[in-house]
Amino acid sequence: MCGIVGYIGSKDAKDMVLTGLQQLEYRGYDSAGIALVHNQEVKIYKDQGRVEHLRELCDFAFCSHLGIGHTRWATHGVPNKINSHPHISNNGRFVLVHNGVIENYKKIKYTYLNEYTFYSETDTEVVANLIEYFSNQGKDTRDAILMSISELEGSYALLVIDQKDPNKIYFAKNKTPLIIGVAYDGVTIASDVIPLAGHCDQYVGLEDKTFGYITKEEIHLFNYFNKEISLKMKNLDLKNNEFGKGDFDHFMLKEIHEQPSIIRHLIQEYFDKEKINISPEIIKCIKNCTKINLVACGTSMYASYMAKYYFEKLCNIPSEVFVASELVYSSPLILDKPCFIYLSQSGETADSIAVMKKFMDKGYPSIAITNSVASSMAHLATYHLDIFAGKEIAVASTKAYIAQIVVCAILAKAVSGQKTNLKNNLSKAALAIEKILEDKILIKNIAKEIVDATNVFYIGRGIDYWVCLEAALKLKEISYIHTEAFSSGELKHGSIALIDRGVPVIAICTQEGTNSIVRSNLIETKSRGAKDFVFAMESMSEPSDDFIIPNVAHYLAPIVSVVVCQLLAYYVATLKGNDVDKPKNLAKSVTVE
Ligand code: F6R
Repeated sequence: MCGIVGYIGSKDAKDMVLTGLQQLEYRGYDSAGIALVHNQEVKIYKDQGRVEHLRELCDFAFCSHLGIGHTRWATHGVPNKINSHPHISNNGRFVLVHNGVIENYKKIKYTYLNEYTFYSETDTEVVANLIEYFSNQGKDTRDAILMSISELEGSYALLVIDQKDPNKIYFAKNKTPLIIGVAYDGVTIASDVIPLAGHCDQYVGLEDKTFGYITKEEIHLFNYFNKEISLKMKNLDLKNNEFGKGDFDHFMLKEIHEQPSIIRHLIQEYFDKEKINISPEIIKCIKNCTKINLVACGTSMYASYMAKYYFEKLCNIPSEVFVASELVYSSPLILDKPCFIYLSQSGETADSIAVMKKFMDKGYPSIAITNSVASSMAHLATYHLDIFAGKEIAVASTKAYIAQIVVCAILAKAVSGQKTNLKNNLSKAALAIEKILEDKILIKNIAKEIVDATNVFYIGRGIDYWVCLEAALKLKEISYIHTEAFSSGELKHGSIALIDRGVPVIAICTQEGTNSIVRSNLIETKSRGAKDFVFAMESMSEPSDDFIIPNVAHYLAPIVSVVVCQLLAYYVATLKGNDVDKPKNLAKSVTVE
């Protein structure tokens, strides 16, 4: 997590870096800092708090043409000014920002840096001093950086300024993203393409274990054998306005509203009339396997449950969902010919990447389904499928969830080879979501009824239960209300003890086979004092239901019912006055294990 930006060129580096940092705040936002070169001297400004606060600290007139900045999601050390980046080496020569985690920082401290003083609790300060240590041994800066990064274990994207030659930005990258963008007036280097949009024409996504430096005119990239690597520049076709909130108060609300058009976009991308357009190699890879292992975290993991459903129902291939962070450290029984499918909005989630590497090393093919073609997972995987959701900026994922499910439905249909009505059904689902968006005031009213709750429960069965898992995550992460999802049949086996007078219990009922039994389970909670709510599909709705979900094909119900729950979470959080797009303690891209 954490976002880093560097700029060198003829524009004002302060503006370029601060604007870039603000765009990267989704990666972390507990502190921010910037280092700017002015008259060949480096000036550092940093503090706990958002980039907006840093902007206030930088209220000065001088213009700089080189700067590096950082927006933090604390790993080592509490969010405060001292732990904020940039960090400087003891003699003040090396100034550095870092995204990632240096796992062996303690060992480095006692192996090399006994004589050094450390002011912060961070792992990053060790890197600044290690560079100084090697430089004091007579190495030039590039070699000192190479020797330092060769010692590091863990993940890092680093930007470094050498105060003795403050006309370059040095960088190094391993296991966490770093992208260089080129414009006629300068070079930008950042954790994501967003800060490049609108002014860079070309970019290059750096490979792991590379380092180098940029000047205003040049980029030099090396591998860890100190061999210069040629740059494979790509055209950058992103406009700045793609990253704005438009007329919406929050990115989350905007992204919820984008969902119908994303479904339509996916139809365009993946269908050629009635035929599905997916590479035959991907289809073959799945057809040839005897089991599909779906690997993901958080919301993407909940989307994976629907993928499992599609692959089992349509393709008859046994499928299992794995939490990436668990699979990294376990050795499941792998039989015959498995295929691994990784779902990740960002394509940068450290746990998923670790699993991908582990099983690719064992020779198992991987398919990454991500929202970023430039991501590490898209790059590493044997095959990649794009979910075409457009940049998701709100920390709480919404549109990526439905886009992942849609892509998996299309993929499973393609593998099954069955004649399909999917395209038509997806179009109907897009219309159904539009209807929900029109009726969102009803959901706002429900939000008013649960805003003061301390616990909320979602219940459902089968497909609806999987949506409950995602609905509960959405509500808890932005409203901070403790929310759990239960398979409604499980309630009686213990959890019903949590039901007290007035506890909201929300039932999702979209499946004919389970509708009446979920309703019976809801009555059981109501008899114990729960305040009950029902979100039901029109065809099985009852007059007292709280929200009617327009009819869609039963297997697409999750991408529609979830929208009601996304809106509910959104309204509860806004009623509480929370920062919906940047909920506390979270970051969008979880690039640490
Ligand atoms: C919740 C949310 C997270 C992510 C999870 C995985 O709203 O966004 O649970 O789904 O951190 O991230 P990706 O999909 O980028 O691998």
